[in-house]
Order: sequence, then structure tokens, then C-alpha cells
Amino acid sequence: MLLRCVILSVLCIAATSFVLPVVDNLADCAAPNGTDKVMHWWQCSSGPVQFLNATPYDSTGKQYEYPIHLSQPIVVKTQINNPTSTYVSPNLRNTVNIWKYGGWNGCTWSSIPTLGLLKDLDACANGVPCPVRPGNQELDVIIDFTKFDQIIALLKDNQPYQLEYILHDNQSGDTSCMMVQAWAFLK
Ligand SMILES: *[C@@H]1O[C@H](CO)[C@@H](O)[C@H](O)[C@H]1NC(C)=O
Ligand SMILES: *[C@@H]1O[C@H](CO)[C@@H](O)[C@H](O)[C@H]1NC(C)=O
Repeated sequence: MLLRCVILSVLCIAATSFVLPVVDNLADCAAPNGTDKVMHWWQCSSGPVQFLNATPYDSTGKQYEYPIHLSQPIVVKTQINNPTSTYVSPNLRNTVNIWKYGGWNGCTWSSIPTLGLLKDLDACANGVPCPVRPGNQELDVIIDFTKFDQIIALLKDNQPYQLEYILHDNQSGDTSCMMVQAWAFLK
């Protein structure tokens, strides 16, 4: 009898969740650029720094991890070719822009407000191993939203996101930009 009550109430709760309005039509969209399987990225600056590769790792930097977990720091191992400048703190500035996919606008990206929190940060104090010296090298960049609860609160679990990662050096005037599209969990 007790078991029956439990089963009935579970069914009842399950039924109620179906009548809640479904505001997200992400389910109708194919994962953009195959992000259900692998991280997609491209360089969004013309140089001088060239990005040759980018691979997502977990917060230890030892384990390949995909989908990524934005509720923890992640390490993006990039291979870069930096022809000339040495980039140091506080001149190397970092800005991150974020988009989500799907929703009311259909299968398109829409910008998520980052409330100025991810704008013009000291890159060397926010995940970039500095100094960044000239040469062809692996650069392990840490992306860490865990100190920005307000941003995490705007994100949803189990969705694709697009991140524009901009580095601007106000000494040389150089700008480097990488666009990343990745499926992300928040748990
Ligand atoms: C897929 O990636 C390309 C660059 O590789 C980009 O130009 C295009 O806008 C992306 N498509 C979507 C739906 O994000
Ligand atoms: C670059 O920005 C940093 C931080 O805002 C500032 O301390 C520094 O003086 C700037 N350097 C130049 C050359 O503008």
C-alpha cells in the first residue's frame, strides 16, 4: 500500500512537470558545429599570434574532458605561435563574451550579459600563464567562472555555449582572439 502511494505520487509529479510551459526549443536544434561530440574553435583575430590547436582538459589539466564543466575551472590547452612580443601583467588584458544557443530566436546564438565582470581583466591574474614569450609553444589557459556566481546563475546545464576569448596587449597593441563552441555541464 505504501509502495503504491509512493509510485502514484511519483507519477503525479512526473505528470505535473509535463504541463509546465516549455520555453526552450533547443531540442529542435542540431548541436551547432558538432559540439555534442567535440569542442569547435577558430581564431577570430588576424595575428600576430597564431592559434594552432585547442583542446579542453579538466581542472587538473591532466585529463581530456568533454563536454566541459563550467561549474569548475577548465584548462584549455592551446598551441600557439607567438612571433615577437613578450606579454606581461598588467598590460595583457582579457575579455570574455558568452552566447547561448536556441531559445525563442530559433537555432541561433544569443548573447548572455556578462555584467562587465569578464571585461578588461588582468589576463595574467585570470588564467593566462605569464609572461607569454615568443615562440611556438603550448599555452595552458584556465577558464574559471567559479568566482562569478552571477554569471553561473545565467547559464543552464547541458547546453552548448559559445565563448569569445580576447587578449589585448596594451603595450604592443596586439589583439588575439579565439572563438570556442562547446557543450557544457554545470554540475
Ligand atoms: C560553425 O563554425 C564556423 C567556423 O568554423 C562559423 O563560421 C559558424 O558560424 C559556426 N556555426 C554556428 C551555427 O555556430
Ligand atoms: C595597460 O593597462 C594597465 C591596466 O589598466 C595599465 O596599468 C597600464 O599602464 C597600461 N599600459 C599602457 C601602455 O597603456
